[in-house]
Amino acid sequence: MKVLVTGAGGRLGRVLVEALVEAGHEVNALDVQASAGLGALQRLGGQVRLYRGHLEHYAEVEPAVAGADAVYHLGAAMGSFTDFQFYTTNVTGTFHVLQAVRRAAPGLRRFVFPSSDAVYEKYIPGGLPAPIQPDRPNATPRDGKGLYAMTKIVGEEMLWSYLRTYGIPGTVYRFPIARAAAELPEFYEFWLDGLLRHKRGQRRADAESPAAVEVLERLQRDAGGERRLVLARDAAGRPYQRVYVDARDVVQALLLSLDTPDATGRSFAVAGKDQPATSEQIVPYLSRKLGVPYVEARLPGIPTFYDVDISATREVLGYRPQYDVFQMIDEAVQQTPAA
Ligand SMILES: NC(=O)c1ccc[n+]([C@@H]2O[C@H](COP(=O)([O-])OP(=O)(O)OC[C@H]3O[C@@H](n4cnc5c(N)ncnc54)[C@H](O)[C@@H]3O)[C@@H](O)[C@H]2O)c1
Repeated sequence: MKVLVTGAGGRLGRVLVEALVEAGHEVNALDVQASAGLGALQRLGGQVRLYRGHLEHYAEVEPAVAGADAVYHLGAAMGSFTDFQFYTTNVTGTFHVLQAVRRAAPGLRRFVFPSSDAVYEKYIPGGLPAPIQPDRPNATPRDGKGLYAMTKIVGEEMLWSYLRTYGIPGTVYRFPIARAAAELPEFYEFWLDGLLRHKRGQRRADAESPAAVEVLERLQRDAGGERRLVLARDAAGRPYQRVYVDARDVVQALLLSLDTPDATGRSFAVAGKDQPATSEQIVPYLSRKLGVPYVEARLPGIPTFYDVDISATREVLGYRPQYDVFQMIDEAVQQTPAA
């Protein structure tokens, strides 16, 4: 098949392009010129054709889309971007890719849109009481806050509209924290300085966050300038809990919808092996592996506490995640050169 991957130089795009090449597909790889990962894709050889362009410029999108049998539209602004960048890259950009499919890829068999668990408001007092149910309409409301979440909700709706109107066979995936193994140990919530920065930024959303900031600042002072891991708990002592997934498992899930006609019109959650995982499981393990001490913090305010139901992803797609957070940490530590 001829497969377009937008955002091909990104964390998930790079792994996906490699897997597509390995499976014998021809890949059109679109990303901005500055993307660090594009150079590495060039080395994959003749099965990969590079397109350097911006999603917000239609004329740079259509040539990459032309004749595609499948599209993985991974390109997006995620993280530190302005509101205008979120809108133009994620909303205008998605519109451009869908329009280009209408005009230049009439035989398209799959259009994958990577949405996010950010479409759900996961940070509520006490944490989420039940696992997120992505495939049951309205079981968990898509009421996520912030511009990034808005662009993902709009993207999903655009995809459904193009399916209804033009028959473009769309599939949505909602990813949790998706990382290459090597990145996981640096996740901000495992580190005292990272969590402190985050809680400071949360002040407006969470009336009790100044009290949480005070707790973390005191622990930071006690650490006397040494970098420390932190095991975060809510005010009742319950450890923070999240869902993580290795980039390779994400790619497994993404590839499965290529050959599953029933995936059209559905939204799938993705999670790694043995998820969710708590700070109580991860932080002491990471501490042993890195040889960095950890402190415990009981934090007032809105905790991080959620889970997601991936049974439909298992049943419909046959998804079987292979990597848990401990394997990811082990790999990351093995890859880090000794100081
Ligand atoms: N990694 C996660 O935790 C996570 C979670 C939920 C959803 N997602 C979604 O998955 C997709 C891939 O995520 P990732 O982790 O690989 O992100 P990433 O930031 O590593 O990759 C995104 C890629 O998009 C490219 N891009 C950005 N703006 C562009 C533009 N204007 N034109 C063309 N290309 C542009 C970037 O250069 C980058 O290579 C994104 O849509 C993201 O929103 C990721």
